[in-house]
Amino acid sequence: MGGLRGTHSPPACGGQWLGLLLSAAILGSCPTPALAQTQIIVTPDLPPAPVVGGTVTLTPQPPPPPNATLCGWLRQSRTIFWHLLDQEQPSTGSSYTGREVLGPGCSLIIVGLMLNYSGSYTLQVQGPGVFIFRGVNLRVYGKLARPTVMSRRTTVPENGILELFGERPPSTRTLLWYRDGTVLRLDGHVEMSPGNLSLLLARVRRDDAGNYTCEVRNPISTARSEPVTVTVTYGPDAAFMNPSGLLSLRLGDKVTLRCAADSVPAPQFSWSHSGSDLIPAPAGAVLSLVLTSAEQAGVYECHVTNPSTGQNATASVSITLRLGQGPVQSQPGQTGGLQGGAITRAVDAGIIIGSLAGTGLLIFVLYYVLCTQGKRDPRLEKDPVAQQGAPCPAGVQEQPPLQPVRGQQSSPGAPPTPPTRCCSPEPRTCTRS
Ligand SMILES: *[C@@H]1O[C@H](CO)[C@@H](O)[C@H](O)[C@H]1NC(C)=O
Ligand SMILES: *[C@@H]1O[C@H](CO)[C@@H](O)[C@H](O)[C@H]1NC(C)=O
Ligand SMILES: *[C@@H]1O[C@H](CO)[C@@H](O)[C@H](O)[C@H]1NC(C)=O
Ligand SMILES: *[C@@H]1O[C@H](CO)[C@@H](O)[C@H](O)[C@H]1NC(C)=O
Ligand SMILES: *[C@@H]1O[C@H](CO)[C@@H](O)[C@H](O)[C@H]1NC(C)=O
Repeated sequence: MGGLRGTHSPPACGGQWLGLLLSAAILGSCPTPALAQTQIIVTPDLPPAPVVGGTVTLTPQPPPPPNATLCGWLRQSRTIFWHLLDQEQPSTGSSYTGREVLGPGCSLIIVGLMLNYSGSYTLQVQGPGVFIFRGVNLRVYGKLARPTVMSRRTTVPENGILELFGERPPSTRTLLWYRDGTVLRLDGHVEMSPGNLSLLLARVRRDDAGNYTCEVRNPISTARSEPVTVTVTYGPDAAFMNPSGLLSLRLGDKVTLRCAADSVPAPQFSWSHSGSDLIPAPAGAVLSLVLTSAEQAGVYECHVTNPSTGQNATASVSITLRLGQGPVQSQPGQTGGLQGGAITRAVDAGIIIGSLAGTGLLIFVLYYVLCTQGKRDPRLEKDPVAQQGAPCPAGVQEQPPLQPVRGQQSSPGAPPTPPTRCCSPEPRTCTRS
């Protein structure tokens, strides 16, 4: 074996003690004198690590004494070689696979490594007054396959249990867990099984939601799983109304009530007025009102529920009617407590309830100013086409339907705004210009 010529350990590397120098690639390298004097076993985990397809040399260091008569190697206590040193050729044992070579100085060379060559190897040297029996653990590393993360469920209620199961492909040395790219450490909250194969959060918190990955590493490669998105359901703990408290409005004033609540999944909204549900039920987070009669005063409540957690909360605003000038003269900012933008120049009459269009119940109750107060347009009565979608008659301005506020507090999936058409059967309002 010409390739082994260089592996012979020269006497300069020798010493009184016998250890094992396991060198993966640096054939025939000499340890430092300090190392030669000690009984340290250099493991193959020091770089370069033995890799699949590569070669490893296990070199006794210092070499066997000159009076040794037998040298041999075992793998998991089964013989690979034994060599009576006064004979030419070593004998092979039951664990010999054809990839092993006995080199100079009783070194063992294994070529074409496979993962199953990992394990314990034992050197035996015997002679008069000599008996050496030394084991070393060999670990062969391959390129790691991408692990997968499994979980029974990834939507977990707050304070519930989250358990994720990782995977250790062959020759994995370290397994780490990440949430949103940050490695998780063992603390009171995060627990891991031995070897980190499973991750356990016994009382899940809201901030435990995120993307979980597991990463496997060995000295020659790293592989990370696809993320698993964990959702933590919670809330609502409270609901908030804007504006809130007490609102003093005049007839004709228009006000938009916005309701919000923090919950996962997004809460469902319902509204009531003075204890009774509003009909038709507005399903969104926004309620628009135009005050046209004293009966509309009272307490408006928004109820938020999360069917996933069973929790609910309520927010309210109390609207009182105050006497004052007519609506046409009312100016933004004059009405107590409201921001200028919350009140628009009022429509002549009517209550407008804006709801999420997703319910298909976007319904406006409209007092037909145009048609009922002596300003009838004859066309509207005679011409069905005009009724379906004519432009607004002179003096009447088209007003877009009320839009729900989109955001985390509104229900998802609202369809696009219906077209704005004057006098169509679709919900719409007209204002006088
Ligand atoms: C490893 O497995 C291969 C077959 O896949 C076999 O030929 C070889 O002998 C095995 N080596 C050891 C050390 O068990
Ligand atoms: C053989 O060598 C060992 C170590 O060098 C020594 O302890 C032992 O006494 C030697 N035996 C003989 C018979 O010389
Ligand atoms: C297990 O995870 C901990 C914390 O991230 C890490 O320090 C440790 O090295 C890991 N152990 C194994 C065997 O992967
Ligand atoms: C989690 O992953 C999804 C897609 O896989 C991504 O949309 C989302 O933003 C990620 N979340 C975080 C907190 O990184
Ligand atoms: C609201 O929650 C309470 C318990 O906190 C429960 O008794 C009640 O039934 C819930 N109401 C609705 C409408 O879910």
